[in-house]
Formats: sequence, C-alpha cells, structure tokens
Amino acid sequence: MQFNYIANACTPSSSGRTIAMLDPSDGQPYDEIQRSNAADLDLAVRAARQGLEAVWHKFSAAERGRLLMRLSLKITEHADELSAIEQRDCGKPTKQARADAAALARYFEFYAGACDKLHGETIPYLDGYSVLTWREPHGVTGHIIPWNYPMQIFGRSVGGALAAGNVCVVKPAEDACLSLLRVAQLAAEVGFPAGVINIVTGYGHEVGDALARHPGIDHISFTGSPAIGTLIQQVAAQRHCPVTLELGGKSPQIVFADADLEAAVPAIISGIVQNSGQTCSAGSRLLVDLAIYEPLLERLGQAFENLRVGPAAMDLDLGPLIRQQQQQRVWDFLSDAQVANITMVAQGKVVEEAPQTGFYQAPTLLRDVPVTHRLAQEEVFGPVLVAMSFRDEDHAVEMANATPFGLVAGVWTADGARQFRMARRIRSGQVFINNYGAGGGVELPFGGIKSSGYGREKGVEALHGFTTLKTVAIKHG
Ligand code: NAI
Ligand code: MG
Repeated sequence: MQFNYIANACTPSSSGRTIAMLDPSDGQPYDEIQRSNAADLDLAVRAARQGLEAVWHKFSAAERGRLLMRLSLKITEHADELSAIEQRDCGKPTKQARADAAALARYFEFYAGACDKLHGETIPYLDGYSVLTWREPHGVTGHIIPWNYPMQIFGRSVGGALAAGNVCVVKPAEDACLSLLRVAQLAAEVGFPAGVINIVTGYGHEVGDALARHPGIDHISFTGSPAIGTLIQQVAAQRHCPVTLELGGKSPQIVFADADLEAAVPAIISGIVQNSGQTCSAGSRLLVDLAIYEPLLERLGQAFENLRVGPAAMDLDLGPLIRQQQQQRVWDFLSDAQVANITMVAQGKVVEEAPQTGFYQAPTLLRDVPVTHRLAQEEVFGPVLVAMSFRDEDHAVEMANATPFGLVAGVWTADGARQFRMARRIRSGQVFINNYGAGGGVELPFGGIKSSGYGREKGVEALHGFTTLKTVAIKHG
C-alpha cells in the first residue's frame, strides 16, 4: 500500500479509498495507491505554503542548488531501484527505465547548477532613476504529470520549479506514480524541508481537478491530452492562474531524396517505437520524397517486421502499452485504417512469452494515409507510423504544418540551404536536422505551439516560466 507524501510524511487519503495499480506486462494488480480528494489536496497545499514561508523562502539560491545536487546524487545511488519501480509501473523495457532514472538525476544536476545563475537586469532609464528587475518564484506550483515518463517529467517540471525557488504539489497519473513517491522520500532523506515536495495521488477528475481549482496554487504545469489541457485552462482562468501546457504532437519525420538513409532509418524507427509510441514527441508521421518513397518503405517494412514486443523485463524493442484503454485506443485507430482501406506495409511481432492479459500492441507501418484522415491528424500514442509522399520542398512544408499540433519535427537532407529553410518554415517548438531528438538533452528548451501547448520546459528557459518578473524603479534624484 502506497500513501500520499505530504510535509515529508506518508499520509493516507481522508477518502479511505484506494486505486489498484496494474502491471501492464500481465494486467495483474500489484499495489494500491491513495484515491485522494480535494481535502487531501488542500492539506498538501497548506503544507507547501507553510514550507515556503517558514523555511524554503529563506534558503539562498546556492543552498537550494546544493540540495538539488544532493538529490541528484541520491537518485543516481538509487537508480536501479527507481528504474525497477518505473519498469513495473509503466511496462518499460529495462533500457528505457534505466535511461529514465538517469535523466531524472540529470535534471536535478542541471537545475542544481542553475539555481544561483538566474538573475534579473538593470535597465537604463530617465535621469535620477535606477531600475532593476527581480525574478521571483510564483510560490506554490502545481504539477500534473502523465504516466508515460513519470520520472523524466517530474525531473523537468519539479526540478525547474524548485531551482527557481518555488515549492511543489505534484499530482502524478493514476496509472503510474510509485517512482515519484519514492523520489519524494529520497528528497526528505537528503534534507529537503517538509512541505517543499508534496505528492498527492488519485484520479484526474478528482484530485487533479481539485489542484487546478485550488486558490492556493500559484502556477500549474500540465503534461497530457489536449482535452484535459483545455479543461485546466478553463478552470485556471477563473482565478487567472498561469499555466504551462505540454499537450503532445503529431510530429513529422521529413525525408528528402538526398538523405543519409543509414542514419535516418534507425532514427525513424526508434522515434516511433520508443516507449511503445507513448511519447509526446514521437515521430508519428513519415513524409517522404516521392523519388525514394518505395525503396524507403521497403526498407522500413523489413525493419518493422523484425521488431519484437514483450514483457518489460524481457527488454525487447517494445514493452506493453500502459493499460487496456490505451490498447483499445490504438485498436480503434487501426480499425479506422481498415475501414478507409489504408494499406499496412508491415507489423512487428508480439512474442509468445507475452501473457494474454498484458496490454501488447505490435508496431505498425501504414502507407498513403490521406492528410485529412484522423491517423494523419490525431495523436495515436501507440506504435503506429503513418507514411505519406511529397512532391517537393513546398509540398513537404505544407504537409508538415497540416495538423493542429506543432511540437517537434525531424528533417533529413544533405542540402545545407534546405536545412535552414526547412527549420524556418516548419511550425513547431523544436526542429532536428539529420537527427531526431538529439538525445533528449535536458539543456534543450522543449514545448509546442498550436494544440501542442505553450510555455517552455527544460533548459534555462524553463526557469523564466517558473518565475514572475518584478520591476523596481527607484527615484533618487
Ligand atoms: P490525461 O490528459 O487524462 O492525463 C494526464 C494527467 O492529467 C494525469 O495525471 C491525469 O490524472 C490528469 N487529469 C485527467 N483529468 C484531469 C482533470 N479533469 N483535471 C486535472 N487533471 C486531470 O491523459 P490520459 O487520459 O492518460 O491519456 C489520453 C491521451 O492523452 C493519450 O492517448 C495521449 O494521446 C494523450 N497524452 C499525452 C501525453 C503527453 O506526453 N503529451 C501524456 C499522456 C497522455
Ligand atoms: Mg484521461
């Protein structure tokens, strides 16, 4: 049984109710979390406010940095334990779970170093005045975290918020949150004062909604679906609470005829199979120059057929999806493809060892998907890659920009001038040229435009979103 973590103490929900955690690899329950309500959330917000005003507020930036660094080192010491927790919780292959624990440590390391390098400016002004700006923390920040990368998203969101001097109330996803409860304990062990990191588990429509509504929350970071992103904005708008939203994408991989296919093919595959396609920045649309469309699809088809899906601990190319509803979501997209007579190029295989009760889905490559079909417009959040051909550069740009999203794009071409033109013309928060994701670097500002959301996480840039700027003008004559 797991408890909320409030004011550095394991705390049961006042609801007296719990939610069973299912292992995606076999669909069986293995633990329970608290099904928290608005009263539990209120307790966490009060603890956070108390922690901020009594203690955290008095920490110097350098002291905050030292504490974040201690947590980073502690996470590294516990990396095996944390990745094992995340693996079972999310169904992640071992390599992915380990990479996620390493990324969590790296976020805290990066933001540890950034704490005392965040400063304002002085502004030349009228004679007799001195003007300066201060970057002040919002105060109590709320973090609503999805199930696809709990540790990584906690790292980028909570790491940045703490570095900027905020305290945090975290609502992890009901499907995967055990790693974060453990990290909060580790934070207390290295000396984080009570109330600085609080975790309250439960359903989105219950405790998540309570977080969005709570007048004591001064800023909300949300990563998840566009539909819930809209709800959060509506609720937060009632009290004009600032929000940062990361709502996923339908990101294109654009391959020109002069591309280095040796480099492109593995990156295209890992861009869609990583975490079984349950990645906001998944490269889920493949746009290919007509001149190489057939040979590239043939090559990718062979590669797809060799992909293996199985229980997380087998550490294959793909693990299971998070839950039965996600599996059903992918099936619905694939049955729509059949109805629309969309051609399947190839599919990987689910291994025999995979229990029937697990939530498996073979990676699937579809071709000639009409630009307006929902498979080319909506986020599947599963291992489904849709291929389409383009005639020329203008057509590629038009197709790349023809979705409601704008998070990430990959461009594969040897032509230097075209690399720059494409980077300028694509409407998205990140563009990768001759790579996809650049190793996910913590340093690289991340976030979208259009329905992918707004605000930037990661990098130094994120700290601007976690602060509010105060202008101080002194008239001294
Ligand atoms: P979701 O948007 O419902 O869940 C994300 C987080 O929001 C979870 O912590 C959830 O408990 C919380 N939440 C849900 N309803 C809420 C509410 N009314 N108020 C406050 N918080 C609330 O996403 P879900 O249902 O897990 O997945 C559905 C689809 O959303 C996926 O298939 C995928 O397309 C997309 N998604 C995108 C993610 C991304 O990384 N951009 C992450 C997770 C989901
Ligand atoms: Mg939902």
